[in-house]
Amino acid sequence: MAVLTAPRAVPKKRNRPGRRTSSVGLKLVMAASGILLVLFLFAHMLGNLKIFVGAEAFDHYAAWLRELGSPVLPHQWYLWIQRGGLTVVVVAHVVAATILARRARAARPVRYAHRPKVQGSYAARTMRWGGVIILLFVVFHILDLTTGTVNPVGDPHHPAANVVADFAPARWYVTLFYTLALVAVGFHLRHGVFSALRTLGQRTARGERFARTAALAVAVVLVAGYLSVPFAVLTGLVS
Ligand code: HEM
Repeated sequence: MAVLTAPRAVPKKRNRPGRRTSSVGLKLVMAASGILLVLFLFAHMLGNLKIFVGAEAFDHYAAWLRELGSPVLPHQWYLWIQRGGLTVVVVAHVVAATILARRARAARPVRYAHRPKVQGSYAARTMRWGGVIILLFVVFHILDLTTGTVNPVGDPHHPAANVVADFAPARWYVTLFYTLALVAVGFHLRHGVFSALRTLGQRTARGERFARTAALAVAVVLVAGYLSVPFAVLTGLVS
């Protein structure tokens, strides 16, 4: 006698070809916007290191930034174009990340009972919160060193004085906060640069090794370069 069994639920096809293609497009958006942000981070870090040359050199650099493009561009235009460009790039990065994360969740209707304990998945999980921490840090940072709202000096014509006042030993908690934020930046960069290089084609074993080393190098150089400034002020090397 035939035994009747309930028809097995056929899983819905979630990865339709059209979707798959646009997910690759979104990963390209993530990689391209991420690379632009890393370029900004390198340029900004090099600018910050000018403080080791002296307060005057640092202030001169900040003033030069405001005159960049002159006489073709009026005063501060370059800076505003850069601000607009950075905002568009950050929005593209966050929107693409959010859509990709939603799709990944939709493709996995049952949560993992035990998440696989591989380093990659740990790094990937910290990306979202790392990104949120970095965004909050940037908001505080702009109020601190661009508008001067929460800076003890807050003089727009003397950015070096703002930096020195900010990281003075008595305000050790500001250095601690910047350090924690920069550690988040470091982790985010390590996984982000690695993912971007993989998206852009480093998929062989050798390519993956290269991507891993390059990502670590970018993260270490940037975090060390940025942190050298607050620690130089904290220890009295820059005053
Ligand atoms: C210890 C580390 C850092 C120091 C000492 C520092 C210093 C500064 C200073 C002095 C300014 C004002 C520049 C000016 O008005 O000419 C500034 C602006 C800015 N910084 Fe940083 N920065 C640091 C880390 C970072 C990081 C990690 C990010 C990004 C994740 C960042 C993003 C920005 C942005 C977006 C601005 C606004 C630029 C503008 O006015 O358009 N900074 N920073």
